Amino acid sequence: MTIITSIEDLRLLAKKRVPRMFYDYADAGSWTESTYRANNEDFGKIKFRQRVAVNLENRTLASTMVGEPVAMPVALAPTGLTGMQHADGEILAAKAAEKFGVPFTLSTMSICSIEDIAAHTSKPFWFQLYVMKDREFINRLIDRAKAARCSALVLTLDLQVLGQRHKDLRNGLSAPPKLTIANMINLATKPRWCFGMLGTKRRGFGNIVGHATSVSDMSSLSSWTSQQFDLSLSWKDVEWIKQRWGGKLIIKGIMDAEDARLAVDSGADALIVSNHGGRQLDGAQSSIGALPAIVEAVGRQIEVHMDGGIRSGQDMIKAVALGAKGVYIGRPFLYGLGAMGEQGVSKCLEIIRNEADLTMAFCGLRDLRDIDRNILLPGTY
Ligand SMILES: Cc1cc2nc3c(=O)[nH]c(=O)nc-3n(C[C@H](O)[C@H](O)[C@H](O)COP(=O)(O)O)c2cc1C
Repeated sequence: MTIITSIEDLRLLAKKRVPRMFYDYADAGSWTESTYRANNEDFGKIKFRQRVAVNLENRTLASTMVGEPVAMPVALAPTGLTGMQHADGEILAAKAAEKFGVPFTLSTMSICSIEDIAAHTSKPFWFQLYVMKDREFINRLIDRAKAARCSALVLTLDLQVLGQRHKDLRNGLSAPPKLTIANMINLATKPRWCFGMLGTKRRGFGNIVGHATSVSDMSSLSSWTSQQFDLSLSWKDVEWIKQRWGGKLIIKGIMDAEDARLAVDSGADALIVSNHGGRQLDGAQSSIGALPAIVEAVGRQIEVHMDGGIRSGQDMIKAVALGAKGVYIGRPFLYGLGAMGEQGVSKCLEIIRNEADLTMAFCGLRDLRDIDRNILLPGTY
């Protein structure tokens, strides 16, 4: 039996169990992957101040994100095609998040639909929206998210154009996978994954197929999506989306203090400092590197969240110390899902919780809400 002690263990197991096409899709960054690497490497440069002989009884990581209580401030990030890491992946991840007491964010580009998640969970989840040219479709998506009682809308603004991931092109990424000889040979080594997929009907983009005009199957879908990402997107669009939605709004994909101010002006409740996990602008700064200036610019007016490169509870504590009210994890939960389904996502969250709890204790604190820059070694951030 494999003993899992870290997120890296989950990654290695996922690599064994998930078909190459989908493992690579989750794992990769764009072009040279320099931003993808910097996201995690920059966490390593930040050092803690170790403290001793402080009362460490009754510790808590509990906090809030956009006013919602969370067991720890770590949400599951919206990720496309999650139902291809494991059959019914979004449903399983949402269930694990609900049991743990952290938010789950469903991507527009998910395999399981908004309605699927609502039917399998009892607490509200969050929905992530990409702005497409078909505004009627967007209106309907927003209405569906409302009907499913989603409690926050995460509006992603950093995907008007698509960063290139070399491996996706080489692997001929598609959902479900095309049965080329190379793919069939690879699938034959992933029996668990194949049996799971044979047991579910959810193998296309659940939020889109059958809901967007002229999209009824996968081939019409790929031409639809490539034409649909909106090049003319502007802050004016954020206004109408906010109005139509009427609930809590989180703007995702902010890397610049100037854009952070515009996000505040748009009336959003929170923004996410994010470079899409190093999947879009290769050569952009790491998210943790961008965080302090954005907190400095707008941290008193709006909740600042961040994602990108978090692979441990230590990383999460560093982000909180630098002013993040909450963080999101993408690949860590996808590795858990690919490795062991729902149990793997729970394991991922437990690993991060235990690491965060002990790290906070080593820094001499008992309550996550007391964490600030004082726990970090000056000159290292
Ligand atoms: C496989 C994959 C798919 C993603 N799909 C989406 C998406 O559909 N919508 C979105 O806003 N962000 C998407 N992202 C970005 C994540 O929400 C998040 O910003 C990123 O994964 C954080 O970095 P991390 O993976 O290092 O934790 C995706 C990321 C990955 C790895």
